[in-house]
Amino acid sequence: MKITITRPDDWHLHLRDDDAMAAVVAHSAERFARAIVMPNLKPPVTTTEMAIAYRQRILSSLPADTRFEPLMTLYMTDLLDSEEIISAKQSGIVKGVKLYPAGATTNSDAGVTDIQKLYPVLETMQRETLPLLIHAEVTDSDVDVFDRERVFIDRHLVALSRSFPELPMVFEHVTTKEAVDFVRESQGRTAATITVQHLMYNRNAMLAGAIRPHFFCLPILKRNSHQQALIEAATSGDPRFFLGTDSAPHPQHTKECASGCAGCYTADSAIELYAEIFEQAGSLDKLEGFSSFFGADFYGLPRNKSSITLEKQPWVVPQSYPFGKDQVIPLAAGKQLQWRLVD
Ligand code: DOR
Ligand code: ZN
Repeated sequence: MKITITRPDDWHLHLRDDDAMAAVVAHSAERFARAIVMPNLKPPVTTTEMAIAYRQRILSSLPADTRFEPLMTLYMTDLLDSEEIISAKQSGIVKGVKLYPAGATTNSDAGVTDIQKLYPVLETMQRETLPLLIHAEVTDSDVDVFDRERVFIDRHLVALSRSFPELPMVFEHVTTKEAVDFVRESQGRTAATITVQHLMYNRNAMLAGAIRPHFFCLPILKRNSHQQALIEAATSGDPRFFLGTDSAPHPQHTKECASGCAGCYTADSAIELYAEIFEQAGSLDKLEGFSSFFGADFYGLPRNKSSITLEKQPWVVPQSYPFGKDQVIPLAAGKQLQWRLVD
């Protein structure tokens, strides 16, 4: 059996830089036409000028004859101003601004410490129709790590969507039923990305019987009832939910250690994994909307003209890939997948 769908896009991707980037970018380009590229480099991509240069480095690292369009983002800091928003919009290559609460995740130290102070910048983004992409977790040490997304909704998102009803907002990598409900009930222009790992797994995969660091990402995997709410949202055909892998490669030794970092690498098999999830949910007919239409429509970009074909033919995901001087372990390492991408 084969299915052909419009070539998908990845609306949330970490490509890193230099040798690391060169090692992983082809995985995304084989599957996706475009990707929203996250700006959490060291140092972060805070200006349009930096985004233009980063985009150029991505294009230069693509294998010959490979077409892939990186859609760039700016990293919001306390110092971002409206002028920068206007040049970002005018550049035509910046498609969103990423809000990381300071300390929420990998390379977020330079993130936002007080969202309220950035309201004038958000005004400008609303006027310019430049989407706000949100890592929606509070960082307070007294808030349980499993509650950080839910608390962010109550403390910040409700007020944000009320204050900026016309600002396109992406609630990135939603992980809870509360997040799904928030997006569904929102009156504003709010959508959400959903990752492979949050659809495939719940926290048991990461913690039951042993600690499995390659399942550790942020926001962290939640309990099964949340996983079921995400599967329901992704496969419902609701255009406010679309594909964003959050594929986030890290060197093996930085994940398999006493203080392992957050991020799951899925770019090597992402659309295959989503296809498996949609098939298991009896909703393979909803895969194309989720993967190839809804994100483009939300960002006001044309849908892709080319297509990809997936064939029902089991294959086994490699145990690792070269990653600069290191190795990266994919989320699905050693797993037999049902769908294979046909060249
Ligand atoms: O697990 C994650 N990894 N979550 C993020 O928000 C960032 C990402 C990364 O950059 O590694
Ligand atoms: Zn991310």
